[in-house]
Amino acid sequence: MLQIDIREVNNQQELEKMFHQRWLVLRSPLGMEKGSERDNHEDGAVHLVGICDRQIIASARLRESSPGVGNISYVAVLPEFQNQGIGTKLIENLIVKAQQKNLKSVRLMSRINAIKFYQKIGFSEQDNPFEFLGIPHIFMQLEIPA
Ligand SMILES: CC(C)(COP(=O)(O)OP(=O)(O)OC[C@H]1O[C@@H](n2cnc3c(N)ncnc32)[C@H](O)[C@@H]1OP(=O)(O)O)[C@@H](O)C(=O)NCCC(=O)NCCS
Repeated sequence: MLQIDIREVNNQQELEKMFHQRWLVLRSPLGMEKGSERDNHEDGAVHLVGICDRQIIASARLRESSPGVGNISYVAVLPEFQNQGIGTKLIENLIVKAQQKNLKSVRLMSRINAIKFYQKIGFSEQDNPFEFLGIPHIFMQLEIPA
């Protein structure tokens, strides 16, 4: 069994390594440049990373997008570590963070191929699919138990 440590990013240097890992998983396969993996909401967000053998192999972000509502984004597990339960653990940890922040619900934009992954954790689909970065997505939501 792999030893994976899931925790918040420690410092600026680690944050930069996380952006690189995020780019590798979510932007490089789409032919997008470095820098396309970040936005204006990084400061103040919760950045969780999964560490294996001192390497960042997984990452995801949570922020409060409106009062009481969380937004999860940039969920990324390196290909060689996918389908081993790491993404699920990452989201479960973010849900605990959302609970600690007294958020009532969390929303995310799921790529169509990841719908089942989020459904298993308890998210349900909202509204209709739409295109983002040329990929079909759908909004999904989870109510946070108090
Ligand atoms: C989607 C992603 C975050 C899931 O993380 P993961 O660690 O691979 O997922 P887990 O191992 O916790 O998977 C749990 C379940 O989801 C399913 N699943 C995971 N990735 C899937 C995928 N791409 N397509 C279909 N099902 C998937 C698994 O089959 C597993 O179900 P099972 O237990 O019945 O086998 C990860 O595969 C990833 O980074 N993919 C590429 C980038 C991406 O699509 N990110 C999501 C953007 S919304």
